[in-house]
Amino acid sequence: MEDSSLDDLRGKVAVVTGGGSGIGRELALACAREGMRVALADVDEPGMAETTRLMGAAESLAVRCDVSKESDVESLAADAYARFGAVHLLFNNAGVAVCGPAWTTTAEEWQWVLGVNLMGVAHGIRAFVPRMLKQGEACHVVNTASAAGLISVAGSSIYCVSKHAVVTLSECLAHELGREGARIGVSVLCPAFVPTGIHESARNRPPELATDNPLGEPYAKMVKKAVESGRISAAEIATITLDAVKAGRFYVIPHAKIKALVEMRMQDIVQGRAPTDSTPRADDPPPTPSQGRGNKRAPSPLGEGRGEAP
Ligand SMILES: NC(=O)c1ccc[n+]([C@@H]2O[C@H](COP(=O)([O-])OP(=O)(O)OC[C@H]3O[C@@H](n4cnc5c(N)ncnc54)[C@H](O)[C@@H]3O)[C@@H](O)[C@H]2O)c1
Repeated sequence: MEDSSLDDLRGKVAVVTGGGSGIGRELALACAREGMRVALADVDEPGMAETTRLMGAAESLAVRCDVSKESDVESLAADAYARFGAVHLLFNNAGVAVCGPAWTTTAEEWQWVLGVNLMGVAHGIRAFVPRMLKQGEACHVVNTASAAGLISVAGSSIYCVSKHAVVTLSECLAHELGREGARIGVSVLCPAFVPTGIHESARNRPPELATDNPLGEPYAKMVKKAVESGRISAAEIATITLDAVKAGRFYVIPHAKIKALVEMRMQDIVQGRAPTDSTPRADDPPPTPSQGRGNKRAPSPLGEGRGEAP
């Protein structure tokens, strides 16, 4: 069987959604350092211009693309193939977040977050994987999920739903490509808190979907603090992710302590226990009347919990 690993990136082509900020920007810069040609996609055009500037001499393309729109992602694929003739590495990375208890989430929040975080990845797979299959070369798809795709976090139901969906979508994709004998690897990136602009996602929110959870504020404050104190930088996440691509590793979990929480969740499931609440303890929002029934707290596998949880 032909080699399907993408271990030599020089001269190859990467597409990075959400390339105008944070993890996406650092993925693009890491690809450029490897000698790749890079197509950026984002709704943030000044952000992409800055990433392009930082990439220096690397051959690149910036496409305004709202990943929640099928037609935008199809145009992105057409533009990238027209410009570079091939795409070897796709990062379905663009993402947004909202906070607040499930019972006061708004329909607009569900539409926005699932549109970007889940449908953005689905559109990326549907637009690029058929082209990669035709291309016949070694290729790789990296979907950015989150530690919130592996555990369940109080105040983050919509985000967790979107990221759990990205994890299983990635697993299904890997199974299906494996059955086809395709030369396309898959990885799912599941970081915990990383200092980026994710807690300021509302900056790119369409005005028609801007109805907030009325009880979101205390959770949003906690997430802001945790994101800002994240101990692994976006640049380090990018390096870890490219190493995983070269090694053909599926699960990319840069914050090792998360694995204890994943294991606890799995043990809760197989032993029929109530789910352990592994939400960070520091700066917890005030308790609500429904808390304390049925749930138990994790025995602090995160230490202070800051900077390590999703
Ligand atoms: N920072 C963290 O703590 C963390 C942890 C786990 C997972 N993640 C995930 O990492 C990914 C990157 O986020 P980040 O942390 O770099 O945040 P970020 O806000 O710095 O970057 C996200 C980028 O996505 C872009 N974007 C937003 N909506 C878009 C849309 N509709 N179409 C195209 N682009 C859009 C934004 O303009 C921005 O450039 C996201 O999927 C996020 O959920 C982040």
